[in-house]
Amino acid sequence: MSARFNPLLLTVLLSAACSPKPRVVAGGDPARGAAHLSNYGCGSCHSIPGIRGAHGLVGPSLAGVGGRQYIAGMLPNEPAQLAHWIVDPHSVNPKTAMPNIGVTAKDAADISAYLYTLVETPGGHTW
Ligand code: HEC
Repeated sequence: MSARFNPLLLTVLLSAACSPKPRVVAGGDPARGAAHLSNYGCGSCHSIPGIRGAHGLVGPSLAGVGGRQYIAGMLPNEPAQLAHWIVDPHSVNPKTAMPNIGVTAKDAADISAYLYTLVETPGGHTW
């Protein structure tokens, strides 16, 4: 592929960066996702808005995760990819400090649905 400047590609990238669409998780229930986030103990490592006691500092805050472009800097932030990361982060990056916790595919879909409601960053910027 040529590395020449491509105005169309730039437009596509910029519009993707500035106005990500709300992502819909097929079969995912945000309310159940919130319960799973508590039950699996994700908050021991992550700060997660709306989840009681989720103030962990081992991993990144999940505030605004719904508006990010990449998951763990490696995967495009799409529903199937997010669920894949939650179920099996080590298959994405064997060196990541996030453990495989044994989350089921169904629970990961619910968790993803909840995480995609988190579009506001701590600075108050909404994606
Ligand atoms: C032992 C600590 C730990 C636990 C428990 C944990 N994580 Fe993580 N998580 C991490 C770390 C560390 C990263 C950063 C990974 C990286 O960039 O390689 C991360 C990254 C993530 C990301 C990507 C964030 C981003 O902005 O890129 C998501 C989403 C995530 N975790 C969700 C979860 C969910 C959901 C659970 C519970 C099922 C969970 N984590 C449990 C440590 C943990």
